[in-house]
Amino acid sequence: MWGMSETAQRLELRDRHGRVARDLRVSLTDRCSLRCTYCMPADGMEWLATADVLSDAEVVRLIRIAVERLGVEEVRFTGGEPLLRRSLEEIVAATAGLRTARGAAPATSLTTNGLGLSRRAPGLRAAGLDRVNISLDAIDPERYRTIARRDRVRDVIDGIDAAQAAGLAPVKVNTVLMRGVNEDQAVPLLRFALARGIQLRFIEQMPLGPRHTWDRRDFVSAPEILALLGAHFRLTAVARDSVAAPAALWRVEPADGLPGGTVGVIASVSRPFCAACDRTRLTADGQLRTCLFARTETDLRTPLRSGASDEEIALIWAEATWAKPAGHGIDDAGFVPPDRTMSAIGG
Ligand code: 5AD
Ligand code: SF4
Repeated sequence: MWGMSETAQRLELRDRHGRVARDLRVSLTDRCSLRCTYCMPADGMEWLATADVLSDAEVVRLIRIAVERLGVEEVRFTGGEPLLRRSLEEIVAATAGLRTARGAAPATSLTTNGLGLSRRAPGLRAAGLDRVNISLDAIDPERYRTIARRDRVRDVIDGIDAAQAAGLAPVKVNTVLMRGVNEDQAVPLLRFALARGIQLRFIEQMPLGPRHTWDRRDFVSAPEILALLGAHFRLTAVARDSVAAPAALWRVEPADGLPGGTVGVIASVSRPFCAACDRTRLTADGQLRTCLFARTETDLRTPLRSGASDEEIALIWAEATWAKPAGHGIDDAGFVPPDRTMSAIGG
């Protein structure tokens, strides 16, 4: 018979393909302050019912179970747009105060569209947030407005500057390129990032948006992205320090009076990193997703609200993880995208 603490030590989020999840992504809301064309329809989104969204205490309890009992070492907050969660600072502070079974504080990070970050970056840093990833798909205001359906690029840039000033480090910027939409923004975005000492990362577009909006011919692949950048910058590959790191990094030589730096390319479609995936995900309504592309979810909210112990919830989580799919299967003939869009799953 195992005692409580021994059981806690033994459990981890291991799957039948030999992977262990240590990176928890928590979606705090499915709502967003933007309507990026590749993520959401212009209007007519159906939002989660308030009663279904986990309360702060419920989210923090699930995070605590993951960190204390399930070997999670890193917690990333996502949305929708996580800055729309008014209590984000409190949730971050509660998370930063946790300790893993080995006595370490979990690393904390935020994936945000940057709107409102200029006001909140100092408070988030003070609450214990370590770092931030900000989405920016165009630097030209008009182009940004076309993609995000809101005229807010200035606010995003202010958010980036505030995050750097607040010491959220490193600040990374994520860009999704779409054919015929914003490929011409790749070089200006890299110039912007180099000038600020920020790491820019291009992410291949995955089929996670509104229904029928993804087409294999539209996603701009990693080799194409490198060709776009290579026409203006000298790039040399940086050896990967971790197989689980999804971004292939390239060293950019100084040019045009700009300092050098690094740029990342995340080939999520053309070169999937599923074999090294160390992620586990919670939706805002308390459903466990073992993969972005999972067709099934495991309900943690019902046990949470009906008196299950921490140990019982940890067991449900660990058992569901065992069945995590081997990969996203975008290339399989029978591929079916998930029912939720990215905004309701969390990046
Ligand atoms: N494919 C790739 N990246 C996406 N993102 C949103 N939707 C997609 C998609 N279909 C990005 C956002 C943000 C992060 C959370 O994921 O731009 O940077
Ligand atoms: Fe909002 Fe991010 Fe979706 Fe854009 S991509 S609508 S910022 S959740």
